[in-house]
Amino acid sequence: MTFNPLPLFCLGFIMAVVNAQASTPLSQQHTQPEVEVLHWWTSKGEQRAAAALKQAVNNNGMVWKDFAVRGGGGESAMTVLQARAIAGNPPTMAQIEGPAIEAWARLGFLTDLESIAQQQQWQQSLPDIALKVNRYRGHFVAIPLTLHRINWMWLNKQVFTQLNLAVPHTWPEFMHTAAIIKQAGITPLAIGHEPWQVAMIFEMMSLGLHGAEHYRQLLVELNPDAITSTKTLASLKMFRQLAQLVGPKQNIQEWPQVTSDLAQGKAAMQLLGDWVKGELSALGYQADVDYLCAPAPGTQDGFIYNMDSFVLFSQNSAHPQQVSQTMANLLMDKTLQSQFNQLKGSLPARQDVDLTGFDSCSLKAKQAFDKAKANNNLVPSLIDSMALPEQQQNEIIQLLHRYFYQSEITPEQVVQQLLNIQKRLGQDGF
Ligand code: GAL
Repeated sequence: MTFNPLPLFCLGFIMAVVNAQASTPLSQQHTQPEVEVLHWWTSKGEQRAAAALKQAVNNNGMVWKDFAVRGGGGESAMTVLQARAIAGNPPTMAQIEGPAIEAWARLGFLTDLESIAQQQQWQQSLPDIALKVNRYRGHFVAIPLTLHRINWMWLNKQVFTQLNLAVPHTWPEFMHTAAIIKQAGITPLAIGHEPWQVAMIFEMMSLGLHGAEHYRQLLVELNPDAITSTKTLASLKMFRQLAQLVGPKQNIQEWPQVTSDLAQGKAAMQLLGDWVKGELSALGYQADVDYLCAPAPGTQDGFIYNMDSFVLFSQNSAHPQQVSQTMANLLMDKTLQSQFNQLKGSLPARQDVDLTGFDSCSLKAKQAFDKAKANNNLVPSLIDSMALPEQQQNEIIQLLHRYFYQSEITPEQVVQQLLNIQKRLGQDGF
């Protein structure tokens, strides 16, 4: 869905109407302010982590009103958020990622948090990638909470032990291992066949086969030379080889269902971000005991990241100052960031949080993050809303999904479509 920015006169009218509604009758001014939060954390692991946030909010003189929109990756949630904002009824706070933050700020919807950020010296504790994404014209307009690593491979330990298999480190090794697992009658790759889940594997392949610079040129810059390069053709051919191994499209499954198959040994591997770890933990499975975590093939030196942030919609809170200050304090609190991210499977967005209590996979992620940052191998996830405006991102996701399941589509046709997307869409938009 393309969110065409509202003409300013229309926006002004809506904000005038909403402001009139926002003035709370005297009788309610002394009740605890309600914070309506739009997010898409609906799996067991995500809900367990979100419960820690709700607890913190309710313990700090406010009332968390949940507005959860089901759908991994957040596309549905963003569609609903856009509809609510156009109707003049945005939530108090919303989960959001990447370039969408600037787009919402440009339209004047977001609370400026710069004074709080200065007071708490956010700049000193956040990595540069967080400073870039969460600020608009040099002012913080979003609060970063998580740092997820996308390029992970999750392995069912029992299956690998039973079949006496080594962890694959390259894509050819992955294909060979998957063929052995398939031969043994076990689904090699747990995949839910939703477009975003399928397309996320392609971005891991691009990094694993050709490195961070090619990844940037192809999936962040949409550079025509990278799009038409032999490297991209090689990635598309490897992606097609995986499609043939995975077999024709099975029934669509949301990612938590697929993670459950992995946990039970119905499938041997899953290639997806470390929210999978939060899910496995909520299901009672332990790293190194029940499952193994390893970099997606060829990506041990790279780190594809996405970051969950929260924004506060300025015109929909009876207590804007109190809510903004309290929410910013809570979400950026070191203890909260430690507690939440241990449950979520991600790293804290703050770099000064003690990682005592984080499991071996998270500590591997931290080491990989620091190494990738030092070697310029840190890249934003296109598929998980960190690299391009929503329209370009979703067109590429749909294109890769069609290619994966429709063997008549050639790599050359995908390259041509990517060039069309690059040409046809301006850099603006969600
Ligand atoms: C991502 C989000 C993660 C996780 C994942 C699956 O976009 O950043 O926190 O929720 O979607 O839904």
